[in-house]
Amino acid sequence: MMCAAQLKAMAIGIACILAAICVCEGSSLVEPPMTQAPPTLSPAHVRSRLRTNFRASPVSATTTPPRCEYKELMTNLHDRVGILATLDEDQRHRLEVIDKKLDQLVDSNAARMESLKAQQLNFQQRLDSFEHIQRLSRSTLDELKGETDLTLGPRRVRELKQKLSNRRKMKDISRSVRSAPQQYAPLPNSSAGNIDISLTDRLDALATLLTSTALSVRTVQEDVFKLTQAINRQRRLSHRRVPPNLIGQPGAAAFPAYPRLSPATSCLQYYLSVQGILKLQLTPESESFYVACDGDWTVILNRSSDEINFERGWLDYKDGFGNLAGDFFIGLNKLHALTSAAIHELRIVFEDFDGHVAYAGYSTFAIGSERELYPLSLLGRFQSDLSPSAGDSLSYHAGAKFSTIDSDNDNCLDCSCAQRYKGAGWFNNCGTSNILGQYHQQNYAKAGESGIFWDTFQGKDYSLRRVRMMIRPIGEEEARR
Ligand SMILES: *[C@@H]1O[C@H](CO)[C@@H](O)[C@H](O)[C@H]1NC(C)=O
Ligand SMILES: *[C@@H]1O[C@H](CO)[C@@H](O)[C@H](O)[C@H]1NC(C)=O
Repeated sequence: MMCAAQLKAMAIGIACILAAICVCEGSSLVEPPMTQAPPTLSPAHVRSRLRTNFRASPVSATTTPPRCEYKELMTNLHDRVGILATLDEDQRHRLEVIDKKLDQLVDSNAARMESLKAQQLNFQQRLDSFEHIQRLSRSTLDELKGETDLTLGPRRVRELKQKLSNRRKMKDISRSVRSAPQQYAPLPNSSAGNIDISLTDRLDALATLLTSTALSVRTVQEDVFKLTQAINRQRRLSHRRVPPNLIGQPGAAAFPAYPRLSPATSCLQYYLSVQGILKLQLTPESESFYVACDGDWTVILNRSSDEINFERGWLDYKDGFGNLAGDFFIGLNKLHALTSAAIHELRIVFEDFDGHVAYAGYSTFAIGSERELYPLSLLGRFQSDLSPSAGDSLSYHAGAKFSTIDSDNDNCLDCSCAQRYKGAGWFNNCGTSNILGQYHQQNYAKAGESGIFWDTFQGKDYSLRRVRMMIRPIGEEEARR
């Protein structure tokens, strides 16, 4: 394009030159003979002719004086060609700019289309996942309904009707969500910005719907869970276990087959235990473990001999040790899991070497996580009405972190309480009791602070014969008392 334009400009220049030559040679406007100026002259020809004319001019000047000035004309022509070239350059530049702008426009349009497409895809995905969640919730509800039908029987199911109406509401929600896309379909002449806004609004609305649906599903689940628990409690009260002599007899078949109960979460379900040992599973996801039950109490510590050494490191206290049928400590991990799954009360039973038994009870009890160093994070009111009372020698330890011989968290600047007391515990610059101390078969009355002592029962120097520490979940009313 540039070449053509330049050639054109040159051709114009040449035409001008030729015109000038014609005027000068003929001394008039009469055209020269065709042989002298063929119409298809090349620029080289023109240049050579111009040169000959210049040389010839002084010769002809002798006869006729020159009627035009070649030099002036040439300058003029040169200027014009220059202007034309500049103009051409200008046009070219403008065309380039326009070209560039067009490119940019195409690019930005493509990008916008891309982003719109991406948004639509994203929206579609969210819609899909929402519908997936809906399906899940619906199947969960169906499952729950089946479970409750089985557990509660037709009469109780009627009471659940109201809960299940939530399900109908959810269906309504899902229907309105599914119809949403048409309702919000972008108008044909709306700009990209408007589409953006309406998409965002729709996504926000969907997010809100999702949250509220999840919440209502959770509520229904909780209600059903509570009802199931209540039913289980009632059943426990109304049905005694089958007497051994009835098993295998014809009458035994008359006992109704109960639906499978959910795994035990505490010794409150001791009727499921075997010789005092019960398998607990606190949540469907958590690992199950065995505990020793004393009635509906879960035993967390049992000491009655020197068979098991309690002067141990952090890992042993974390996981627990000993024999569940004899002396043992349950382990801080399980203790934390148990006491963080439900509010528990604590009871400790002591016995000295003369057979005197005494009790210490606390209305609430919980310990923190390993990250917090298993602190005695909750220790409620001391139950002074238990009789005979061993007195309160634990409140001093409330809030203290757990210490072992290899992990010193005891607030004592220049000592290790666990090493001094030859055991472990929630020491607070040591303390008023040492239930995890050394077992003393002899000289128990003068064992000193390393023995199993409870200051308010027989004093700091007396090492006790038996200690049993137990916890039990309490109801909400009991917790409020
Ligand atoms: C399209 O947009 C114009 C203004 O931009 C508005 O007046 C017109 O009603 C719109 N058309 C439709 C179908 O919404
Ligand atoms: C505690 O240990 C004693 C002695 O070994 C045993 O008889 C008793 O059953 C144990 N108690 C519990 C609740 O495990």
